[in-house]
Amino acid sequence: SSYQTVLLAAGQGKRMQAGRNKQFLTIAGTPLLIHTLRVFEEDSFCQAVVLVANDKETEEIRALLQEWGLGKKTSIVSGGKERQDSVSCGLKALLENGAGGEETVLIHDAARPFVTKDKLRQLAEEAASSGAAILAVRVKDTVKEVTGGTITKTVDRSRLWAAQTPQAFSFEVIASAHRKAEENDYLGTDDASLVEYTGGAVTIVEGTYENFKVTTPEDMMFAEAVVRSRQEGERK
Ligand code: CTP
Ligand code: MG
Repeated sequence: SSYQTVLLAAGQGKRMQAGRNKQFLTIAGTPLLIHTLRVFEEDSFCQAVVLVANDKETEEIRALLQEWGLGKKTSIVSGGKERQDSVSCGLKALLENGAGGEETVLIHDAARPFVTKDKLRQLAEEAASSGAAILAVRVKDTVKEVTGGTITKTVDRSRLWAAQTPQAFSFEVIASAHRKAEENDYLGTDDASLVEYTGGAVTIVEGTYENFKVTTPEDMMFAEAVVRSRQEGERK
């Protein structure tokens, strides 16, 4: 089913320690942001992309889109201090473009370049029927709760999932969750948590471990490996 996308690129990339926003770093010769945007630009179910960026970087991004021949569906708006603020800016732009009601919105981190069209489709379909759904993967590690250096609890892993993006919602569900969060000064770490906060149900679509978030320097090495293994797959 069709959807619109809020693509978040207004962070600083501090943990990457690259001296500039990580989305401009290249993976196999192509900027991270281009890898990510390309998936949505090439998915025929994606109607429009609102790319949320830092004011100071919009010119550089425009130049990149030009260079890589991308951006037919994409408009650029400025973001905010926290990720949640940037999402609000993106939703506002969609609203101004006439979005609303039960139309599906996908919210995605530009820092996750390896989401597949297949998963976008599954997720958009699930959100269209349930109102709210996210990609998530089973946690592989045993997770400990620790207080002052001592384990206080081993969490039951069978119930643990690691949340990813995209997270998909019907427009009214996510817009009203953001409104209520703002009214109550509630800051969540993802968009699903805002819907949970307002009492809404969010369903899970099992994702892939390849859809990791490029966050710290060694992630660039993993990202190169994903591109390489996909290229090998194509040659076979
Ligand atoms: N993001 C955003 N607006 C913010 C903060 C983050 O649009 N105010 C975006 C980032 O650009 C990124 C995504 O949200 O694509 C996920 O955030 P994260 O991985 O934390 O990226 P950064 O905040 O840029 O990195 P860091 O936390 O290391 O500074
Ligand atoms: Mg951050």
